[in-house]
Amino acid sequence: MPSRPKPVTIATLAKMKRDQQRVSMLTAYDYTFATWLDQAGVDVLLVGDSLGMVVQGNKTTLPVTLRDMIYHGRAVVRAAKRALVMLDLPFPHGQLGVHKTLQAAARVMKLTGCQAVKLEGGAEQAETIAALVSAGIPVMAHVGLRPQSVHALGGYRVQRDAERLRRDAMAAQTAGAFGLLIECVPSQLAGELTAELDIPTIGIGAGPNCDGQVLVTQDLLGLTIGHVPKFVRPMANLGEQITQVTEQFNTSVRDGSFPSEQESFE
Ligand code: KIV
Repeated sequence: MPSRPKPVTIATLAKMKRDQQRVSMLTAYDYTFATWLDQAGVDVLLVGDSLGMVVQGNKTTLPVTLRDMIYHGRAVVRAAKRALVMLDLPFPHGQLGVHKTLQAAARVMKLTGCQAVKLEGGAEQAETIAALVSAGIPVMAHVGLRPQSVHALGGYRVQRDAERLRRDAMAAQTAGAFGLLIECVPSQLAGELTAELDIPTIGIGAGPNCDGQVLVTQDLLGLTIGHVPKFVRPMANLGEQITQVTEQFNTSVRDGSFPSEQESFE
């Protein structure tokens, strides 16, 4: 009988940092994608609020609701056999202060079965992170470019305020976060933070010196519609393949060659 893979936990991720093993993380929003990614051995599946842009076609992540996150989170949790599943707390549920954020985080943990939540912010979130952690909810903090604050930050820009980033990173670690997502930060600064922290850092647009990397899966697979950010390396061209296969299907339906006898019932 094939043995069940050993599930990734936050203890696994801490050990990976100690052993200098890099963590791979990808976003997932549905059962099919999550199954393929999990079977391929990705360590963490992030049900990111990027689903607001990738799945729903919005310009920002701001319209995503807690209900949307729970809906997609449940599908991903059903698929994951090995990967740790982490859910984003969508705007504004991660920013509502200790009590309401704890309620939202508990709700997503209860209704999806995910193993961790991610929330945007660092020093200003220290009290909230500590409260969630003491309630038994593993938290990853998200610093640097925080997409939920895109309007306050004046757009999707590289974040260069080293003093603030250091303060945010240290405060998140002290509050008990099990990891730190660093988005759009110069490589050297992300590398320095990674060396200073005991918890693993996961970078996106933060160079090669983080303890792990995350990408939006659609970007990795060449399915991005519109602008591809500089930090993305598409490793496939599935968008073009979808176009080709769809054209082939159209032709075979229109010329009557699909379905054949073998694809039909007597
Ligand atoms: O929502 C998301 O997909 C994210 C990315 C930065 C990885 O948080």
